[in-house]
Amino acid sequence: MEKMELAEQKLRKYHQEHILPFLQNSNEQKKEELIDQILQMDIEEIMHLYEQALQPIQYQNTTIEPVVSKNKETLSVEEKKTYTKLGEEVIKRGEYAVATMAGGQGTRLGCHGPKGKFKLDVGENGKYLFEILAENLILANNKYETVIPWYIMTSKENNQETVDFFMEQNYFGYPKEKITFFTQGELPLISKEGKLFIGEDGKIKEASDGNGGIFTSLKKHHLLEKMEKEGTKWIFIGGVDNVLLQMADPMIIGLTIAQNNSIGAKSTKKAYPSEKVGVYCKKNGKPAIIEYTEFPGNMAEAVNDNGELLFGDSNIMCNLFHINCLKKIAEKKLPYHKAFKKANYLEENGNLVEVTEPNAFKFESFMFDSFDLVDNISILCDKREENFAPVKNAEGKDSPETAKKLYEAYWNKKCECEQNRA
Ligand code: UD1
Repeated sequence: MEKMELAEQKLRKYHQEHILPFLQNSNEQKKEELIDQILQMDIEEIMHLYEQALQPIQYQNTTIEPVVSKNKETLSVEEKKTYTKLGEEVIKRGEYAVATMAGGQGTRLGCHGPKGKFKLDVGENGKYLFEILAENLILANNKYETVIPWYIMTSKENNQETVDFFMEQNYFGYPKEKITFFTQGELPLISKEGKLFIGEDGKIKEASDGNGGIFTSLKKHHLLEKMEKEGTKWIFIGGVDNVLLQMADPMIIGLTIAQNNSIGAKSTKKAYPSEKVGVYCKKNGKPAIIEYTEFPGNMAEAVNDNGELLFGDSNIMCNLFHINCLKKIAEKKLPYHKAFKKANYLEENGNLVEVTEPNAFKFESFMFDSFDLVDNISILCDKREENFAPVKNAEGKDSPETAKKLYEAYWNKKCECEQNRA
């Protein structure tokens, strides 16, 4: 059977007949691209996710309990020394690599293109988010006399722009051969009525499949093999938008090793109950994070006898994985979470519809859903003012303005301490 017929058959099977006119009316090249996209797409899976999206999230059979983290401030001098030494040895031996999840869009921030290209008004000329991350790693490289391999996950949409940007900026002084870019996967968007959308490019509209895509993407691009070949044992995975992210903190590496775990995490205490952060917990006895969009009931406000938030360890996207654990996770299928977003689309007559309200389900897997592979993870709770200054919104909370203040306060304090020591 011809490819065209197969594509038509597949569309009919999943009640996507509104796409048929685009197969007939497009020019040859566009038609070919659309046919290939339809044939490769797992429409069955997207229809299954759509059915699930219509159901409310069920927590009835789920037990959610608080977790116990180690607070850095309460560790003894001896403990701090032991963990730091263990972690430093890993970095110095060249067994440490870092991965940055930079596939997000920065929609809330109102920026177009890769979020890492956002320039924060700090220092003499401002600094890009990517530049701030590079500087953090360069400091670690100098301190431990090594060059940490840096893996950067992009989306299909922002990959070229990210790669070009690093080149233009001369890789922010980072050894180019130690940076590896790789793209994450995509999933189609779907309407409330279960219909796929055609975008302005004449193809079915897809979007990044969430930061949980990092594991299968690392595998797909043979990067887990590369890491193993290079002797990497521990991989740090972090976000792109926290200007105080400590990407090479030996203490969390040491704590994870000492506790004989294969996943580690740094957290900070949640600032207020409604803060838009996920929190660490145990779900059915397994380590987990409950995302801020999915808190059941009044869990966010629950406090213990001391009046502290019961679920107060924030996810600051600062995680560590042993390579063997990453390999196992990459074989797993993580669940998808739904979001409802705005998606412009073409009508059957080719007219563009520009929407003002959300109209499309988007499905994303979350990196932290991988934690249930293990029974325990090591969590080190550290000072917020030294670890967490997110740039999420154009103004107000977690904005460039708040991140700038926190970034400058951190570096001023650090300089003062160094001057006093000298
Ligand atoms: C995220 C966390 C939240 C945490 C908060 C801290 C998730 C699902 N949520 O929320 O628990 O408390 O950060 O700031 O992780 N990304 C990709 N590809 C994608 C989607 C996102 O690489 O498809 C990257 C982004 O570039 C960013 C990170 O993942 O580095 C966080 O993504 P975002 O969607 O902005 O999550 P938040 O809602 O901020």
